[in-house]
Amino acid sequence: MGDLKQIQTAAGYIQGKLSTKPHIGLILGSGLGILADEIENAVTLPYGEIPEFPVSTVEGHAGQLVIGELEGKQVIAMQGRFHYYEGYSLEKVTFPVRVMKELGVESVIVTNAAGGINTSFEAGDLMLITDHINNLNDNPLIGPNDSSFGVRFPDMSEAYTLSLQEIARSTASSLGITLKEGVYVANSGPSYETPAEIRMLRTLGGDAVGMSTVPEVIVARHSGMKVLGLSCISNMAAGILDQPLTHDEVMETTERVKANFLGLVKGIVKSV
Ligand code: HPA
Repeated sequence: MGDLKQIQTAAGYIQGKLSTKPHIGLILGSGLGILADEIENAVTLPYGEIPEFPVSTVEGHAGQLVIGELEGKQVIAMQGRFHYYEGYSLEKVTFPVRVMKELGVESVIVTNAAGGINTSFEAGDLMLITDHINNLNDNPLIGPNDSSFGVRFPDMSEAYTLSLQEIARSTASSLGITLKEGVYVANSGPSYETPAEIRMLRTLGGDAVGMSTVPEVIVARHSGMKVLGLSCISNMAAGILDQPLTHDEVMETTERVKANFLGLVKGIVKSV
């Protein structure tokens, strides 16, 4: 897990650029980063500028923190996240979540693009994550436990905070947005799954599959932050439709549903 000193150094640098404290963290998935453009009075910090922040090694994945006001709330958004498949350890992947906690963030909204495993879903659906399956064969909490963050064996029986799930449901219904629900499975990627793997994951209880989110959620819950998870079903998972999977489809779908996605997240932020 991230060294406390490194976390404090990064948080101290960020706090020094702010006049208020953020309360809500937003982790924005592939194609969903546009939400950060809605943040008002924003302070923007490229990851490369923040001491101790993981350095982006893979082109096209450089990102930034956008900190400011959204729907009257103080938020800190990650526009671009670190993925395990890029070669970062899970400690590095989750470092920004530790920094958010250090800055005083109480609730984290984690978003992603995911493949639909549940055959009642279709590309373009939004899914409330009610639970997850960590299929990474790794865990961000492996290693010495810093008890100033949380306990050695953190409970995960309510990984996704029930009261925030309720806010998401009522916000969706008041906006007339259909919100599917289900279990998110994290695979390492970067290859997409085979049809056999998708049948396996369906048997195991998965409704959507992606390459992120679970490590960040584990770390957020370890330190007692509330979590809300939202997936944009960007494609149906391998073998369900008679077509290959491409990252282009993922980006096209997130682009198509971005108005609903933005409206939903903003409505949720307002009520959190
Ligand atoms: N599989 C894994 N990750 C993904 C997918 C998928 O089908 N779509 C978007 N991210």
